[in-house]
Amino acid sequence: MAKMWDARFSKTENKRVNDFNSSISFDSRMYKEDITGSMAHATMLGKCGIITKAESDLIVKTLGEIFSDIESGKLLFDPEAEDIHMFVEEVLTSRIGDTGKKLHTGRSRNDQVALDIRLYLRNEICEIRSLVNSLLSVLIDLAEKHTKDVMPGYTHLQRAQPVTFGHYMMAYYQMFMRDDIRLSQTFERTSVSPLGSGALASTTYSIDRQFVADILGLSGVTENSIDSVSDRDFLIELCFDLSVIMMHLSRFSEEIILWCSTEFGYIELDDAFSTGSSIMPQKKNPDIAELVRGKTGRVYGNLMTVLTMMKGLPLAYNKDMQEDKEAVFDSVDNAKICLELFTAMISTMNIKTEKLREAASYGFINATDCADYLVSKGLPFRDAYRVSGKLVAYCIENKTDLESLPLDKYKEFSPLFENDVYEAVNLDNCVNRRTVYGGPAEASVKHQIALAKKYLKNTCICLRTYD
Ligand code: ARG
Repeated sequence: MAKMWDARFSKTENKRVNDFNSSISFDSRMYKEDITGSMAHATMLGKCGIITKAESDLIVKTLGEIFSDIESGKLLFDPEAEDIHMFVEEVLTSRIGDTGKKLHTGRSRNDQVALDIRLYLRNEICEIRSLVNSLLSVLIDLAEKHTKDVMPGYTHLQRAQPVTFGHYMMAYYQMFMRDDIRLSQTFERTSVSPLGSGALASTTYSIDRQFVADILGLSGVTENSIDSVSDRDFLIELCFDLSVIMMHLSRFSEEIILWCSTEFGYIELDDAFSTGSSIMPQKKNPDIAELVRGKTGRVYGNLMTVLTMMKGLPLAYNKDMQEDKEAVFDSVDNAKICLELFTAMISTMNIKTEKLREAASYGFINATDCADYLVSKGLPFRDAYRVSGKLVAYCIENKTDLESLPLDKYKEFSPLFENDVYEAVNLDNCVNRRTVYGGPAEASVKHQIALAKKYLKNTCICLRTYD
């Protein structure tokens, strides 16, 4: 096919070079956004009298037909086309001739691609936010069911202090809620129109940029034409947001993997989310959680790709920037599938609450409470800490625990111990005395759940749509 810039070039094209230059294999997924952006542009050209109303109408109508033909599979992408923008314009011109050639008036592919990727990503952000919100609801459900189920909380992966499974789930809720807020903020910065910035120096036609933004449901227009075509911050931000989501999913996956080992035995995954071994008949492997953990690496890698690709680019557009798409698309695709499957996996897992309690019972995770008991009897904390430590050492040596140690033994360590020490080291009491804001007591966790429900109810994932 003859190239659009044949007029300027004398040599014939080279297939290897063309293939290297082409992005249609991956940017064709933005066909809807490309066509919608072009419709808005053509409508504006007509309204401003830059082309006639009849021309504008014909372009818009034909773009609509091209869209339907792509959707129905009647029109296939031409692998020889340089990119989706050229492809759509070429098809348009082949269908309506000279009128089609007027579409690109006052526009460049540089502001066009910047618009397309913004439109595409804002849509994806909404989809990702709904997946995050589903995960948040599942976490709230799990938390609500387990506000009384005591389990050990860990530091250094050593049993530390008692919490509940509900409290634990709400910790993950907080992490993913921050992700949701971050995405909503990235959405705002993505939702502005760069169209009208042209190649970099805008245009001499008297266009109406705000009109285009309004048609597209964008909140405004970018402020500087050079920046508009050279900015990919919003895309890098999304790659970062998705990296943090994956980091959170990966930490959670790690816990799931540990928890379904025989050593922990806290949960059992539904068969649908596990696989067997080809050689060891007894195995039930947490592959989904492992894959989520594994895919975190590529999502981090994509962030590094776009950051490094942008580093050192002079203003304004440079072809290097074509490399942004495969990276961000890969992050979007992988984060979406991971969020979806991870949510389904944890909503179907079986939580073995008796195992959680058992683990909480044999790790001396009430040793701090034993020290706090002595503090309540007047001993300074540091001294109380030492007494409690000696008691733990004694229990370990004699294979017993703080709940079962007889009172006369307690008294050998400190005369301050009375019968009420058993209440102090009782696990449920240990948890429920921690009524501090944010703490594990049932009342505190219920408050966290109430706030979470309010957040989910009020948060808005709205895409002002365009037709
Ligand atoms: N395919 C290009 C990209 O993704 C579109 C913009 C091309 N602009 C240009 N001046 N060559 O970046």
